[in-house]
Amino acid sequence: MDHKKLTILGSTGSIGRNTLDVVSRNPDRFSVHALAAHSNHELLARQVEEFRPALAVLFDEEAAGRLKELRPNGGRTAVAWGMEGLLEAAGAAEVDQVVAGMVGAAGLLPTHAAVSAGKQVGVANKEVMVLAGELMMNLARQTGAVLLPVDSEHNAIFQCLNGEDGAQAERIILTASGGPFLDLPREKFISITREQALRHPNWNMGPKITIDSATMMNKGLEVIEARWFFGLPPEQISVLVHPQSIVHSMVEFVDGSVLAQLGLPDMRVPISYCLSYPERLPLDLPRLNLGAVRNLEFREVDHERFVCLSLALRALKLEGGVPAALNGANEEVVAAYLAGGFPFHRIGSILEEVMEHLEQELNPAGPTPAVKERPDEALTPGYLKHIATVDDAVAADGHGRKLALRIISQAANT
Ligand SMILES: NC(=O)c1ccc[n+]([C@@H]2O[C@H](COP(=O)([O-])OP(=O)(O)OC[C@H]3O[C@@H](n4cnc5c(N)ncnc54)[C@H](OP(=O)(O)O)[C@@H]3O)[C@@H](O)[C@H]2O)c1
Repeated sequence: MDHKKLTILGSTGSIGRNTLDVVSRNPDRFSVHALAAHSNHELLARQVEEFRPALAVLFDEEAAGRLKELRPNGGRTAVAWGMEGLLEAAGAAEVDQVVAGMVGAAGLLPTHAAVSAGKQVGVANKEVMVLAGELMMNLARQTGAVLLPVDSEHNAIFQCLNGEDGAQAERIILTASGGPFLDLPREKFISITREQALRHPNWNMGPKITIDSATMMNKGLEVIEARWFFGLPPEQISVLVHPQSIVHSMVEFVDGSVLAQLGLPDMRVPISYCLSYPERLPLDLPRLNLGAVRNLEFREVDHERFVCLSLALRALKLEGGVPAALNGANEEVVAAYLAGGFPFHRIGSILEEVMEHLEQELNPAGPTPAVKERPDEALTPGYLKHIATVDDAVAADGHGRKLALRIISQAANT
């Protein structure tokens, strides 16, 4: 494998830090061209000091100013900010591979820039695939970009499909830990605290994905991500609860054979596979001992308690910009929840209202949703029916956010 130059978008987050850990274990294989984050200038300064990239970017201009003042790497690293800086980091000619490790729809344009520039792109930032998965896959075919799934479930499927003709896959089975409330009775959801929701039993991740895991919206977003990554229709993608997070996902082939990828839950494994693909690199981490694990348990999802998963499946059925709109709404609702806006169980009910509204917009003859105001647009906007451009994805995302914010503020005023 040749030496690769990397850009890491979201380097200060959980995926970014794990990626840098893999890089630091393989200095002969990887070096860093650019690191990018939102505003954590102190951690970014330490990362710049250690990895000596040519470019460091913070979305927040003021934080970028503070980073500049710190003069990490003796001032030899250029500092940029804003979307322009992120696009420069993602599309730079020197870069072989981009790790899309930002959280949320904010990663859409930088990831799009990397795909447009024909890079290898390790995609952790699943919201990008939810917003514009079909567009990204089509664009990659045109530019020669290679999209590699970092998400552990998709990485598992990717590994199971390796060397197989994708058309021979009859079904992919995404496993789900079920999050911290897997066994909590529905009537107790009302008393869930933020601290409990932020404590995932198996994975240590950023706050947004941790809440999405607790509501199981995360699994819904992953079904949408899988639909585009692997080009399978929704009915060939299923979800199975597996509380131990050892079987990361499975593929069932047309002959009934099922292949699974197993391992301890550690994101450095799928990250390393994406960085070294199509090779594997030695990785000195604790090994899976099935004798010690003893039980691998599987069960069906309880859709009554985890409504967010069903909402994502409903959005996927409608396709077009509806998944993007639901994703945008979810980002707003989770941010408001984390800011202390309402109790945990309201996340699902607010998003249900958003979904009802979107369905009404696409099918005005259907039942009227509970939201009192009509949307600003008299006709269904085109981006809800079809995402043809990245601007459509941005518009659909914004549409969902607006709906969610309206419902949240109506609820606050009643
Ligand atoms: N963590 C996991 O194990 C895991 C597993 C599978 C998939 N994923 C996916 O990977 C993505 C990242 O998750 P995470 O857990 O690593 O999140 P995280 O710990 O919250 O980190 C998010 C990163 O994105 C940066 N960021 C946020 N908004 C930005 C913006 N507007 N411009 C530039 N940078 C921005 C943050 O910078 P600051 O630090 O400066 O705010 C931080 O570096 C998510 O889409 C998640 O669903 C994560």
